[in-house]
Amino acid sequence: MPRILVIGGGGHAKVVISLLNKIREYQVVGYVDTVNHGVILGVPYLGTDDVLPGQFARGTNLATLGIGQLKTAELRRRLRDKAIKIGYVFPAVISPTAIINEDVHIGAGTVVMDGVVVNSGSRIGCFSIVNTRSSIDHDCQVGNFVHVAPGVTLSGGVTIEDDCLIGTGATVIQYKKICSGCVVGAGSVVTTDLLCAGTYLGIPARGLQ
Ligand SMILES: CC(C)(COP(=O)(O)OP(=O)(O)OC[C@H]1O[C@@H](n2cnc3c(N)ncnc32)[C@H](O)[C@@H]1OP(=O)(O)O)[C@@H](O)C(=O)NCCC(=O)NCCS
Repeated sequence: MPRILVIGGGGHAKVVISLLNKIREYQVVGYVDTVNHGVILGVPYLGTDDVLPGQFARGTNLATLGIGQLKTAELRRRLRDKAIKIGYVFPAVISPTAIINEDVHIGAGTVVMDGVVVNSGSRIGCFSIVNTRSSIDHDCQVGNFVHVAPGVTLSGGVTIEDDCLIGTGATVIQYKKICSGCVVGAGSVVTTDLLCAGTYLGIPARGLQ
């Protein structure tokens, strides 16, 4: 079985580890973090990210990001860069309970959690998080390092550029575009294109001054 390690050991990592355990396609050798959180769902702490080269040399060449993403993807991006330089490969990790319909592409390093639905014609980039029970309808374009938080609804034809957080339970109506670097607050409803990086809140979503 291919060996994989998880980068990060907090709450998001716990969900990712549970998903990897459920998939049964990988041997999860451990996680790295600045803090030792003890054994997580049977998976041991390996040390800080300084152990990444040694683990690679010992035959673990797959990794997945277990660090969550709120206002910025900076830490996820930095650790991804470090691991890729060593040679790690990041598979897309997709829950068996997600419904991925025909003609959908999901990029490397993206994690798709339980209960997600992605409809036909949608493209999801690399290193994104499609979180629990979110719904991405037909022909959406979701970029790299995007966090689609739990319970989000993207209607058909929505574009989300790189480095965005669409907060828990938010909705984006059809064919709207959200540019790179946007945060959409939890529960907000996006009814217009968001063309400047920033934080948007409420129903309808407006820029946070
Ligand atoms: C949008 C968000 C990032 C704003 O955080 P922030 O910049 O720290 O802003 P604050 O918490 O200081 O709130 C600023 C104002 O916006 C309001 N506000 C915050 N989030 C809001 C939301 N989702 N909807 C409506 N209003 C909101 C606050 O009440 C506050 O109002 P006030 O100035 O009248 O007191 C955050 O509230 C949010 O919704 N994050 C998404 C969380 C999420 O989805 N997590 C996923 C984890 S898996």
